[in-house]
Amino acid sequence: MASAVTSAPPPARPLIHLDAVSKRFALPDGRSFEAVRDVSLQVPAGTIFGLIGQSGAGKSTLLRLINLLERPDSGRVVVDGQELTAMSKAQLRKARQNIGMIFQQFNLLQNATVFENVAFPLGLHGRRSKAEIAERVAECLELVGLSDKASSYPAQLSGGQKQRVAIARALAPRPQVMLCDEPTSALDTGTTRSVLQTLREINQKLGVTIVIVTHELAVVQALCDRVAVVEQGRIVEQFAVADQATPRLSTLGRELLLEQQRQHILQRWESGQLAERAS
Ligand SMILES: Nc1ncnc2c1ncn2[C@@H]1O[C@H](COP(=O)(O)OP(=O)(O)OP(=O)(O)O)[C@@H](O)[C@H]1O
Ligand SMILES: [Mg+2]
Repeated sequence: MASAVTSAPPPARPLIHLDAVSKRFALPDGRSFEAVRDVSLQVPAGTIFGLIGQSGAGKSTLLRLINLLERPDSGRVVVDGQELTAMSKAQLRKARQNIGMIFQQFNLLQNATVFENVAFPLGLHGRRSKAEIAERVAECLELVGLSDKASSYPAQLSGGQKQRVAIARALAPRPQVMLCDEPTSALDTGTTRSVLQTLREINQKLGVTIVIVTHELAVVQALCDRVAVVEQGRIVEQFAVADQATPRLSTLGRELLLEQQRQHILQRWESGQLAERAS
């Protein structure tokens, strides 16, 4: 029997494989702090995988280890069968085109239009013609529902629209993986819902594997297939979000279960109300 900590093996081929990765940061006083401790993790292709945990638990560091924005002190990072930790700088630059990333604060170029923002990664890599770039930008803007904003500047957009531009930019080089660090934390509830819908479509229509860091349990519940709970640099449990039968080991895991049950009751109550009104 699989232990509860490692849970049942994920069903699909792992697209992302972290093998015993650790990351230590030097502190100004000369000491060091181990932000990620000996973490092994497999993310199956095509899934939406959540990383949750308290502030300072090491979620962002762990996410940034996947595309080597942080280089681990030890351990291996393998994405789509390629070991990133064994690559030269040039090889890594190429491999990173397969991994898009979006952030809480969108990180758009403020002096560039929406079109130019989305075109930016396409101009950096490869030898694409202007026409090819324009075609790909138009496709990506359509995917996120922003075809009419190509000539706008970020300052002229709402928070949700800015995040959609960031998603379009991340998608432009056709990545297999998208890393999301608190992508909805700066957005209100309604906008969060529509950005989550966009991420879900990207996963379902394009098959992009998504790893998302969030502290919002409702986001996990609405979006994720699997989730790992991070505490003090370690993964203390992981489970399929739909699996409500296996006992949860961590406080956050249990809180998530309560949130799921609460949503379930709300949904049943709402559909009961609708049925009553219809009769
Ligand atoms: N460049 C750095 N130098 C020193 N310490 C760092 C650095 N980056 C992160 N840390 C420390 O590593 C730990 C984990 O940080 P990380 O940003 O991964 O946490 P997090 O789980 O994403 O938190 P939050 O939810 O607040 O974003 C924290 O204690 C943080 O202070
Ligand atoms: Mg963080």
